[in-house]
Amino acid sequence: MLKDKTILVTGAGDGIGKAAAIKYAALGANLILLGRTLSNLEKSYDEIISNGSPTPIISLMDLSKADANDYQDLIDNLSDKYGCLDGLLLNAGILGDRAPISQYDVPTWVNTLHVNLTAQFILTQTLLPALYKSKNASVIFTSSGVGKIGKAFWGAYSVSKFGTEALCQILSAEHHNEPSIRFNCINPGPVQTKMRKLAYPLEDEKLLLKPEDILDKYIWLMSDDSLGIDGQSIDCQTS
Ligand SMILES: NC(=O)c1ccc[n+]([C@@H]2O[C@H](COP(=O)([O-])OP(=O)(O)OC[C@H]3O[C@@H](n4cnc5c(N)ncnc54)[C@H](OP(=O)(O)O)[C@@H]3O)[C@@H](O)[C@H]2O)c1
Repeated sequence: MLKDKTILVTGAGDGIGKAAAIKYAALGANLILLGRTLSNLEKSYDEIISNGSPTPIISLMDLSKADANDYQDLIDNLSDKYGCLDGLLLNAGILGDRAPISQYDVPTWVNTLHVNLTAQFILTQTLLPALYKSKNASVIFTSSGVGKIGKAFWGAYSVSKFGTEALCQILSAEHHNEPSIRFNCINPGPVQTKMRKLAYPLEDEKLLLKPEDILDKYIWLMSDDSLGIDGQSIDCQTS
């Protein structure tokens, strides 16, 4: 389904991003694995190779610290190697604090907004020229249930996901007359990952789906089967 597409996944070293990257590669895509922890990215890389999928490339980048040179290097390396980008899964994210606004730590707020929202904006802006070169480009932002309804104690994480939904809608509207590129949000729902454990430490994680179990919509949105779907917010798990 994704044969010969070039796809960049952020947060490709763990959780949902890792599972999506491995699956996209298994479906024939050339993967750029972006993340902040080399050892995790190498595990994703090794699994892709051992599956016999196309050889990926690793892009080590900490989104909380990356500067203009890092973003320029990313687009330069991508342009040299592939020329264009067909898919971008903006998945990397952090939880921040679970705390009331009255006590929310200000530096944590700033960093959470930066990693979860501002870095998504910079990455998208940086990569747009490569995405414009694709015949059918798909950009997928990662949202959350608390990106649509504000809930107590979700602070900066919730605000960042509301912002992500807005960023996606704005980009979709700005490209209304350009059907070769589309922008959608995906909400994975509760999934057994490190972030979920951090948010719900007392929960029985065995009751949750694993990242590998929720990938249908990730594949569909990235593939040409979903051409024409644009500016939507898609839930992976509907009750
Ligand atoms: N799991 C859920 O139940 C759930 C529900 C709704 C939405 N989501 C969303 O789904 C996405 C994936 O979440 P997950 O549950 O898979 O989380 P996860 O297991 O914690 O994985 C997050 C990934 O993001 C990477 N990352 C974090 N900070 C980064 C930074 N500064 N620079 C680069 N990469 C960074 C991590 O890198 P390391 O390898 O260094 O850790 C990791 O690969 C997130 O956007 C999250 O908000 C998850």
